[in-house]
Amino acid sequence: MYVCICHGITDKQLIKSIDEGATSMKTLSTELGIGSQCGKCCQCAKKILNQTLIKQ
Ligand code: FES
Repeated sequence: MYVCICHGITDKQLIKSIDEGATSMKTLSTELGIGSQCGKCCQCAKKILNQTLIKQ
């Protein structure tokens, strides 16, 4: 599933990045561009970030 349409980032790419050490939206924005254009993906990305961090 695409999370960020502007940068073509999927939930799998997001989870991979979090598994590799990303712990904040700022890091995801720097690494993948999440939320850096229209910002519509922020809420969904934040949810995935929190859910993935809880599982670790
Ligand atoms: Fe992610 Fe636009 S959908 S910045």
